[in-house]
Amino acid sequence: MKRVVILYGGKSGEHEVSLQSAASIVRNLDPELFEPVLVAIDKEGAWLLQGPGILGRARSAEGPLLIGAGPRVLVGPATGLLVADAGVLKPLPCDIVFPVLHGTFGEDGTIQGLLEVAGLPYVGAPVMGSALGMDKEKAKRLWIAEGLPVVPFVLARRGDEAKAPRLSEIAQEVEKRFGWPAFAKPACAGSSVGASSVRDADDLGRALREALEWDDKALVEPFVKASEIECSVLGNGNPRAFPPGEIVPKHEFYDYEAKYIDPDGAALILPARLDEGVAARVRDIALRAYRALDLAGMARVDFFVDTTKGEVLLNEVNTIPGFTSISMYPKMCETGGLAYPDLITELLELAIERHEGKSRLRYSFQ
Ligand SMILES: Nc1ncnc2c1ncn2[C@@H]1O[C@H](COP(=O)(O)OP(=O)(O)O)[C@@H](O)[C@H]1O
Ligand SMILES: [Mg+2]
Repeated sequence: MKRVVILYGGKSGEHEVSLQSAASIVRNLDPELFEPVLVAIDKEGAWLLQGPGILGRARSAEGPLLIGAGPRVLVGPATGLLVADAGVLKPLPCDIVFPVLHGTFGEDGTIQGLLEVAGLPYVGAPVMGSALGMDKEKAKRLWIAEGLPVVPFVLARRGDEAKAPRLSEIAQEVEKRFGWPAFAKPACAGSSVGASSVRDADDLGRALREALEWDDKALVEPFVKASEIECSVLGNGNPRAFPPGEIVPKHEFYDYEAKYIDPDGAALILPARLDEGVAARVRDIALRAYRALDLAGMARVDFFVDTTKGEVLLNEVNTIPGFTSISMYPKMCETGGLAYPDLITELLELAIERHEGKSRLRYSFQ
């Protein structure tokens, strides 16, 4: 029996989504193989060990995981997890950590670095892959270097939005490369926050101000009118890609509201309505995009596909995608024959495999 610490909540805009994903994982963890331990991260970033009440409730009731009061959990260099119990630090036994944290401080390599230092196996991409997956600019540069088709972009940096000469330089670059309407979004964010369409050069300052509230960098891209296609990739050294799925947002684009607030904000279509050849190309590019960032565990690779031209463009990658039993990532795996509980087991096994692989590396001459 392996003890799996489910890390959930988090100091991120996607805190609530995490509570949902974590609840689904608790309910579907194979009880023959794994024993869950819940560690919640509150909105201030404190790690709190959850008692049996929260776990029991999660198993018996529908709805998101709750966060109750509890002793602080700490992470130390080569100490694993520690729990502060009445002023005394005690080890918190843990075989694998499953970070179910979307967005900043969870999906971006920071938590992964902490877990590496503590010496713990964890589910999902390592430090660099997580950080690259979060940074849409850096990910695209690597994909371009691999010859993969990406949505082109012009980069804006903090301060550009307030300087008229810089704004007009960016606008000229946009006009030269792809023209209006364009689309502006923060480089490192998620949930579509700070993203908006840009009508023309006069609208660029407004769009960049919104995007740069969320990050120091923003991308300006052509406004792509195409199907939104996603593809689940699973594995370490020899990953596999599942049949793609399709998102049909009811709004101008797949915005925050369509993702989380409006229950009819988007339709999920499984498998995606693609010609066989195009679907195969999506899967192939998803695998190459995954390898280009040295990802491990899992990732959902997102695309725009122009179904009339059969043109496939990479948009972005999510290393801890929405993970409720009805989320796109698990659903696409299920369409490809991998049931949700088995997916969880495989991810936990992949975490152990990667950790063991790393422990076999040499770190000194002795
Ligand atoms: N270049 C673009 N043209 C049109 N819509 C876009 C473009 N880029 C993103 N979008 C829309 O915004 C949504 C969020 O953008 P995305 O790049 O996926 O960032 P994130 O999901 O990390 O916030 C997409 O799902 C899509 O609906
Ligand atoms: Mg997205």
